[in-house]
Amino acid sequence: MKPKITVIGSSNTDMICRVPSIPKPGETLMGTDFFTVQGGKGANQAVAAARAGGDVTFIACVGNDAFGQQAIEAYQKDGINTSCIQIVNEVATGVALINVADSGENSISVAPGANAHLLPETIEKYRDIILGSDIVLMQLEIPIETVYYVARIAHAAKIPVVLNPAPAQKIDKEVMKLLTLVTPNEHEASLLSGCWPEARDETESAAEIQKQGVKSVIITTGNKGAYCLDGNNIGVFEGLKVKAIDTTAAGDTFNGYLVVEIANGKSLPQAIEVANKAAAISVTRMGAQSSIPYANELLSYFETKAHYF
Ligand code: RIB
Repeated sequence: MKPKITVIGSSNTDMICRVPSIPKPGETLMGTDFFTVQGGKGANQAVAAARAGGDVTFIACVGNDAFGQQAIEAYQKDGINTSCIQIVNEVATGVALINVADSGENSISVAPGANAHLLPETIEKYRDIILGSDIVLMQLEIPIETVYYVARIAHAAKIPVVLNPAPAQKIDKEVMKLLTLVTPNEHEASLLSGCWPEARDETESAAEIQKQGVKSVIITTGNKGAYCLDGNNIGVFEGLKVKAIDTTAAGDTFNGYLVVEIANGKSLPQAIEVANKAAAISVTRMGAQSSIPYANELLSYFETKAHYF
């Protein structure tokens, strides 16, 4: 039986320009290539979970336009249940403008469009889907009240809620207590732990976040790997050495794979090892959903080193 994963989040069309470096304010840089691919943190995580072997339902909003239609068709090809995707009239499907530098780093601006219409009223229509899930996975590219609403419904029904708090945003303290697992990167962790804009190391950030009532915290640290605080257990996971072409959606790939592994009964360290591999493969390819590997691609890819102490 495939685990039932419900992903609630954004769907974007990504317009990607390859540039030598990320342009500074006021600077015009000549790029090399241009691509249009499916993106959006929610959609990327739904696709990653489906490619990892999950039975995925994606709750989202798209516009009544060609981009929205293309997105739905692409999700269906990945076997995702798209019956909970709302088509909103007179707004555009979300768009992300992405610069990808030769170093693999990116800068992203998002015009949310229809994503801003994913409100609690829509969620209410799909309450039964949420309550029938093994895990609910969310991010922060949709209205925050929707994230809070879902967290309350799922927590009340004892459904694990995983939040990838990206893009960085503060979360209501009462809602933090409803979350089973949060998966920030270093910047998001620093904001959640209350010390932004100062940097804090992962150990302090994770402990501070856990004090707010979240059971487990995984801080992703790019090519350095991941840090995990699960109850009293600490895990440090080395990054895998690959040649990065484009880091877009590496975090999304990590989250999609992670929740499927957890829902399949794997321990957090086991799940992180798999998610790390998938994310490492994704950075060797261009684009968001275009870069997310299928589970069979992970089998022979890497030897990982996990240290648990
Ligand atoms: O996490 C990567 C995603 O962020 C991109 O696909 C883009 O759409 C933005 O949402």
